[in-house]
Amino acid sequence: MASEWCIGIIGGSGLYNIEGLKDEQWIAIETPWGDPSDEVLCGSIEDVKVRFLPRHGRGHPISPSDLNSRANIDALKRAGCTDILAMSAIGSLREQIEPGRFAVVEQFIDRTSRRENTFFGSGFVTHVSMADPVCPRLSDMAAKAIAACKGKVAVRATYLAMEGPQFSTRAESLMYRQWGADVIGMTAMPEAKLAREAELPYALVGMTTDYDCWREGESVDVAQVVAQMQANGELARDMVARFIADLPAKREPSPIDFALDDAVITAPEEHD
Ligand code: ADE
Repeated sequence: MASEWCIGIIGGSGLYNIEGLKDEQWIAIETPWGDPSDEVLCGSIEDVKVRFLPRHGRGHPISPSDLNSRANIDALKRAGCTDILAMSAIGSLREQIEPGRFAVVEQFIDRTSRRENTFFGSGFVTHVSMADPVCPRLSDMAAKAIAACKGKVAVRATYLAMEGPQFSTRAESLMYRQWGADVIGMTAMPEAKLAREAELPYALVGMTTDYDCWREGESVDVAQVVAQMQANGELARDMVARFIADLPAKREPSPIDFALDDAVITAPEEHD
């Protein structure tokens, strides 16, 4: 069964809008999980339906630990999304991922600690596989879109999700490198886990703003981060437009559309 694309774009720091949408309208979406970060901008580009949600809200009022990722993912699902392309500012833990380079994420290490991270629980426990946490089809298309826009791209990156809001200590930053993490950020978890629970294929593009603090004598310079974020905005807008324009005419189903079919689900009466 082939069907239509409805792409959810989660905009990170530096990407607060999508230009060129036909019939665009900001729509408030209610969810049982509370309010999403903002209204969802709904419209279309050619035949592709697009739903855009600024992760931190317009004007950036919501800090990473206060994001209601359950409401955000559920709002995009209710808005009809078939797939999610998430954009997020990141620090780099590798010399070769310099500020300005975009990293397409393949794996996560989740060190967040005070966020609601499941739609299930309370007597209905569900264990969904996160072995391969992103959609390879979307990730591949995202990498091609970045390259087509003449952007610098790193692929197959491992993203360390930290709680924040403080940046890492130097010892933590060095340890994350030893763990095999390539980039670091505060926002993509539990978002990616919740997308999987919602059976939404998810890809994450990290927009590098800084080298974190693992390089000797260096630490994160906030003014530099903000300047780089703004500089990254142009490539972000271009690559998202290109990603949408280059989608195949028809959407073939993804195994992630049926992720819960393979999940371990424990209904209340099955508990011993
Ligand atoms: N977002 C951008 N840069 C970051 C860093 N160095 N650590 C965590 N999140 C970030």
